[in-house]
Amino acid sequence: MKKTAIVALAGIAAVTVALSGCGRTEPGAEGGDDAAGFAADASIGVALPDRTSENWVLAGDLFENGLEEAGFEGDVQYAGSSNAVGDQQQQIQQMIDSGVEVIVIGAADTNQLATQLEAADAAGITVIAYDRLIQNSDLVDYYVAFDNFHVGELQAQSLLEGLEEKFPGEEPWNVELFSGSSDDSNSAVFFDGAMSILQPAIDDGTINVVSGQTTVQQTATEDWAAENAQNRMDTIITSSYQGVELHGVLSPNDNLARAIIASATGAGFPVPVVTGQDSEVASVESIVAGEQYSTIYKDTRALVAAAIDMVSELQAGEEVTTTGESDNGAVEVPANLLEPVIVTQENAAEAYAENPDLEPLTQP
Ligand code: BGC
Repeated sequence: MKKTAIVALAGIAAVTVALSGCGRTEPGAEGGDDAAGFAADASIGVALPDRTSENWVLAGDLFENGLEEAGFEGDVQYAGSSNAVGDQQQQIQQMIDSGVEVIVIGAADTNQLATQLEAADAAGITVIAYDRLIQNSDLVDYYVAFDNFHVGELQAQSLLEGLEEKFPGEEPWNVELFSGSSDDSNSAVFFDGAMSILQPAIDDGTINVVSGQTTVQQTATEDWAAENAQNRMDTIITSSYQGVELHGVLSPNDNLARAIIASATGAGFPVPVVTGQDSEVASVESIVAGEQYSTIYKDTRALVAAAIDMVSELQAGEEVTTTGESDNGAVEVPANLLEPVIVTQENAAEAYAENPDLEPLTQP
């Protein structure tokens, strides 16, 4: 619950107390979802979406181990792929029923958790939105993520740099745009960040989106599914690239980037300049080999650690670390946003120097 709402409720409570002449207050009776000072070994729920990219796979183990190390009892659940939304709604309800103090949610669908947030609020549970900001609700207490608008800006900047590097003087560059799944609020944020850089280049004719598909709806890749990206790229190549060169593709993440590259090379094109995100193993290998042009490094270890730090701060009744606020359509949610890093062949070794899984991939 937002502080303003708590203050307002406290005001109503004070009036009620004055009228009834009874001075006893129940600590935490309302606004108890601030959860200051709950038990050091409390249960913490973590509801993650379907494993649509490696970052989600990594997050599960990191939460299990990190919560245990911090002294909590973690209940980490993934939604399945066939009924992700229903699964997650049920898992969150079970966490509420089992008496968790905090639920960290990586939403399967950022618009379909209203009932669960109300139940969590009624039970005095703090809700932290993880990576994806749950929309249109004033019952999201905190948000922890990478700065996703900046992710999109970095992707677009690297696309332009790659085009300049690989196809100097060949403007207008022929480019196609892809965005993520429409049930994930991040998709529009990544795309808006990218378009803040690309739209001026489209307007001045530096970039030509040959298909003409430039809106987030037209470019969406439902379920973040690689086959949907590959099918759309196949269709666009057939309809718009007969005898036309394909120079670059804005891809919102690595899994889709590899599908787009497969489509282009399958149709006989040389590998275009393709962006990505997540630093997935196969994409880092592809970047080092000079195929995929860029990815974004959002260190999952850092993000999970930041989420667990929030839980520990709530447990200790300390002020929660935030860097600002993120608008979810209903309220400004206090947010801790971490800095993403753009990675190309040039800086891969340096960017992953601290990561034992990725750094070896950059060595000859
Ligand atoms: C995450 C990305 C990820 C995508 C698909 C987004 O919400 O921020 O890192 O690639 O989901 O799983």
